[in-house]
Amino acid sequence: MNSIAVEMRSVSKVFGPVKALNQASLIIEYGTIHGIVGQNGAGKSTIIKVLAGIYRHDEGSVFVGGKELKSITPKSIEECGVHFIHQDRLLVSTATVAEAIFLRNEPRFGPFINHRKMNAQAAELLKQYFDLDLDPSTLIADLSTAQQKIVQITRSLSQQAKVLVLDEPTAALVTKEVDRLFTVLRRLKEEGIAIVFISHYMSEIENICDTVTVLRNGENVGQVSPKQVGIERIVTMMTNRDTSEMYPKRSIKVGSPVLEVNNLCLKNHYQDVSFNVGAGEIVGIAGLLGSGDKEVLQSLFGLTPPDSGSIAIDGTTHQLNSSVNAVENGIAMIPEDRRAHGVAVSLSIAENISLASVNNISKGGFINRRQEAQSVNALIEELGIKTPSGNMLVSNLSGGNQQKVVVAKWLSCDSRVYLLDEPTVAVDVGSKIEIYGLINRLASEGKAIVFVSSDFEEVAEMCDRILVIYKGEMIGEYKGGEIDAEQLLAAVSGKKITINRSAL
Ligand SMILES: Nc1ncnc2c1ncn2[C@@H]1O[C@H](COP(=O)(O)OP(=O)(O)OP(=O)(O)O)[C@@H](O)[C@H]1O
Ligand SMILES: [Mg+2]
Repeated sequence: MNSIAVEMRSVSKVFGPVKALNQASLIIEYGTIHGIVGQNGAGKSTIIKVLAGIYRHDEGSVFVGGKELKSITPKSIEECGVHFIHQDRLLVSTATVAEAIFLRNEPRFGPFINHRKMNAQAAELLKQYFDLDLDPSTLIADLSTAQQKIVQITRSLSQQAKVLVLDEPTAALVTKEVDRLFTVLRRLKEEGIAIVFISHYMSEIENICDTVTVLRNGENVGQVSPKQVGIERIVTMMTNRDTSEMYPKRSIKVGSPVLEVNNLCLKNHYQDVSFNVGAGEIVGIAGLLGSGDKEVLQSLFGLTPPDSGSIAIDGTTHQLNSSVNAVENGIAMIPEDRRAHGVAVSLSIAENISLASVNNISKGGFINRRQEAQSVNALIEELGIKTPSGNMLVSNLSGGNQQKVVVAKWLSCDSRVYLLDEPTVAVDVGSKIEIYGLINRLASEGKAIVFVSSDFEEVAEMCDRILVIYKGEMIGEYKGGEIDAEQLLAAVSGKKITINRSAL
């Protein structure tokens, strides 16, 4: 049998002025896990979408199992045994979990879908792969982003794939689910399946990939083995820059409380949550999937009002009943689900950024266009958003660059409190440093920042204080520098961590 599962030769693809792929090549072997890495906008999703038949390439050729495919459609490629989890394809929100897993593969009873069997099998697959007890009749719309990802992954794992392509599957998953996914991927690899794995988490690439293809500006700049060359070399190939100073140091004196949260309760999600955030302080809330961390943020932003409790900003109590109200009272939020709440993908970058900050740049009801363009351009530069101009539609940006627009949008408005839910998800190593720099700048301006992230290293390194939430209850509090990512993982799993405070 041919050992090469997929070969793409000199593939090019342009979108108007943007050359997304420039004579890029890719060779994937059966029985291996093959990483694709590169900065935001490097062409990773585009090369995958060419293989998936979503985009038609302008030049080059594609072979699967040794046979050249002259024209590819999403259906024909699936028939060749190549299955995909795309970065930005969403599940149908009105489907149930079981329907999403078995779409077009439903177990039948004569001509009818056998719902009972389908639900039972869906529950079994979720349990088997992820140890997740999820009611298979739950609507997709009611799931968190992480749960939706798990459903998507379960769907493709349940199909008889020969090649499985995953575009950033682990973004927003916490370590426990990532570990489970990796166990499954390793098993599939042993069975001879070729796996293509795109991620910005270099530790994952190092952990699981046998081979890595590095893309830069749409070109393949090398195929290497991470175990042989090391991650630092790969990052240099990607970025051409030094990333040793990942978490910029800062020394900010924390001032008086800006945000005070008192006895917040939301039935079935969290109980009796109280904490303060001072001026210039970055407070992290760390928890496992479903611990209530994200729900607390959503309540603070007025998206899901709590059953009881109150918050005050600069000493004044506020209602938590709508996000409009939250914004008026000086709260900004970078939401995790950027497509639902974060950006309007059908508007331009400039329109998105200025939507949130209209109050800062309008005078007497008029928007000062020149000032708007200036501040938009400054943010595009500061965050390194890869685009020919601020007038580009957000829907045309790569996943990570869309996330940077969300960050730019909210960080550009003048608020007192910033709620950050996974601010660097899907963002490349270099751009993460830029986002950390922006967050630190806000802190130095005396803002209060609440930080939620499934990247515990980021939480441990960035926060002045970390609150641990477990099954809806705050069970621990640590100072920045007191706890590392590994200890934090133990803490969020409900383990008691002893910190030797006198040694600090
Ligand atoms: N439909 C489109 N229309 C116009 N430009 C596009 C389109 N899709 C992608 N691009 C551009 O092509 C380039 C490559 O995008 P791609 O999505 O492949 O990047 P990526 O490597 O997946 O990045 P990320 O890590 O952010 O997901 C980017 O500059 C992007 O703006
Ligand atoms: Mg992408």
